[in-house]
Amino acid sequence: MTKSLVVTGIGELTVNNPQAVDNESKPEPASNMAFAVQDGRIAWIGLSDEAPAADDVLDVAGRAVIPGFVDSHAHLVFAGDRAAEFAARMTGTPYSAGGIRTTVAATRAADDVQLRANVRRLVHEMARQGTTTVECKTGYGLTVDDELRALRIAKEECDAATFLGAHVVPAEYADRRAEYVDLVRGPMLDACAEYADYVDVFCERGAYDEAETRLILDAAKAHGIPVRLHANQLGHGPGVQLAVEYGAASADHCTYLEAADIDALAGSETVATLLPGVEFSTRSPYPDARSLLDAGASVAIATDCNPGSCYTSSMPFCIALAVREMRMSPGEALRAATLGGAQALRRTDIGHLSLGARADFAVLDAPSHLHLAYRPGVPLIHSVWKNGRKSV
Ligand code: NIG
Ligand code: FE
Repeated sequence: MTKSLVVTGIGELTVNNPQAVDNESKPEPASNMAFAVQDGRIAWIGLSDEAPAADDVLDVAGRAVIPGFVDSHAHLVFAGDRAAEFAARMTGTPYSAGGIRTTVAATRAADDVQLRANVRRLVHEMARQGTTTVECKTGYGLTVDDELRALRIAKEECDAATFLGAHVVPAEYADRRAEYVDLVRGPMLDACAEYADYVDVFCERGAYDEAETRLILDAAKAHGIPVRLHANQLGHGPGVQLAVEYGAASADHCTYLEAADIDALAGSETVATLLPGVEFSTRSPYPDARSLLDAGASVAIATDCNPGSCYTSSMPFCIALAVREMRMSPGEALRAATLGGAQALRRTDIGHLSLGARADFAVLDAPSHLHLAYRPGVPLIHSVWKNGRKSV
């Protein structure tokens, strides 16, 4: 048994009820809430003056407490950056999937120590901004050996590891696309399967078309590995429909949606994962979050932290964008960044602070969760706790 902890003095507590049907985080109505942690789990929730005795007491002096953010979409195993590409974009050059090849070259040239250090640096940066769970994709190796080492590093340093050998077609296969698809769904997936929590495909013009995506998703299915998809980021396309058809855990981006895509997501278990930092950093239109929410789709928000389309690691920044630019309420955005991310990773033990949940929470230097969007760009994370232990 580890030491028990009681958290008191909470100005506003957001628990997130995973059973609630609405898509909005609602803080507890009482202002003197407390909770107890035992063995890394939430063991009791109630009014402060009824709190059980514990080994340690944490008095947060009127601050708000929220579940830790679940960042369900990131690409952290890479070397170098593409700041010049960003600068060119801001003066008119459009984003294209081809830029990924620049990072592939830098990543292949880096050694394992450098790649691991980059992942650790970014995971720590995320933690300092309230994130307690990180999903990490491969996709900048694109050879059997480079994808395998990226996936092993992701698995060791992050909470979920996703195989994205089908990110772009690497330059050396430019005239032999079918051969590369066969490599991904054959030897590359065989080598990576043991470490892959998910298989992902960038289903997009300039990346993988519908037929290629199906081949790779079928191979994932044959290995029994759940799938997720990069879908409808750069234009309308088959990605979202494929994600739903294959029972994907999530369809990510969803920037360009038809009414039929919204209906398909709303009628499915597939979470629509919105990445507003990408629209910000590529100067693109924002997804129609309102229509998704109003139709009853499950929505998550994630950073997509990567050196190309969006180099933010900040979930609070993405929440602020979701509220300001996608017309989500602050409560909807908070839920999408916590419980929504957990659903996108098919995890029931995180994203909320109900009895039995993992004690992953953030203490805000603010009296209310509203400040996350109300005070954009301000460091509002006071401390972060993972499994009941202080991580930041
Ligand atoms: O999610 N869309 C594909 N992959 C990344 C971008 C990767 C890059 O530009 O390096 C994304 O946006
Ligand atoms: Fe991505």
